[in-house]
Amino acid sequence: MARRKIIAGNWKMNMTPSQAVALCAELKDLVKSDSVDVVYCVPAIDIVPVVEAVKGTNVQVGAENLYIEDKGAYTGEISAPMLVDAGVKYVIIGHSERREYFKEDDAFLNKKVKKAFEAGLTPILCCGETLEQREMGVTMDWIRLQIKSDLVGITADQVKKMVIAYEPIWAIGTGKTATTEQAEEVCKGIRECIAEIYDQATADEVRIQYGGSVNAGNAAELFAQPDIDGGLVGGASLKADFGKIVNY
Ligand code: 13P
Repeated sequence: MARRKIIAGNWKMNMTPSQAVALCAELKDLVKSDSVDVVYCVPAIDIVPVVEAVKGTNVQVGAENLYIEDKGAYTGEISAPMLVDAGVKYVIIGHSERREYFKEDDAFLNKKVKKAFEAGLTPILCCGETLEQREMGVTMDWIRLQIKSDLVGITADQVKKMVIAYEPIWAIGTGKTATTEQAEEVCKGIRECIAEIYDQATADEVRIQYGGSVNAGNAAELFAQPDIDGGLVGGASLKADFGKIVNY
């Protein structure tokens, strides 16, 4: 079956609200596409102005994080119902930067995935190995552990609707992209893991992105792989190049 490609920008901690609106205006015509889904995952403070700025376009808005409770005394956190009310459709969960700098573990991320689905948000669940793990030959073991733990209690029907992003940590922000073969091998492995946990139909439907130094020059080859259904793009999503990636 043909899976629709999904190209998402992860703006990370970049763009003030006014810069965000200006970037949306700059990219508006460049990211037009009937054939792929386009998502901007933006800092919390940019969500409201970006939702407004992309109104009437093909762009949907994602958050970069959410909290596991709906409301209450959790100073500084943002809940899934808040995101939904603001017009957010997607949410990145388990990015390696949150796993590393904010010590988010798989049990916590599993709760976030559940919360996202409960609220009607589409999770973009990230996984990926360190360079050390790759060199030790445990890449797929590690990623299978992440996927299996993060999806505990998630149904096949939910998995069919979600997005999984394979992001080798050593390729993030380094300009060192995984080779097409490396990226395809792991994305295929993730799909096999989903088939094992659920069934082939679920594995055939779930969309798996590659992320890590995706740029206008390497996107076409990466996205042409049978198990790579698009990209999660950091640095290159903040400039006009993102239009070239969308229209690879
Ligand atoms: P870069 O595209 O800047 O390497 O970032 C990738 C990433 O972490 C996207 O989530």
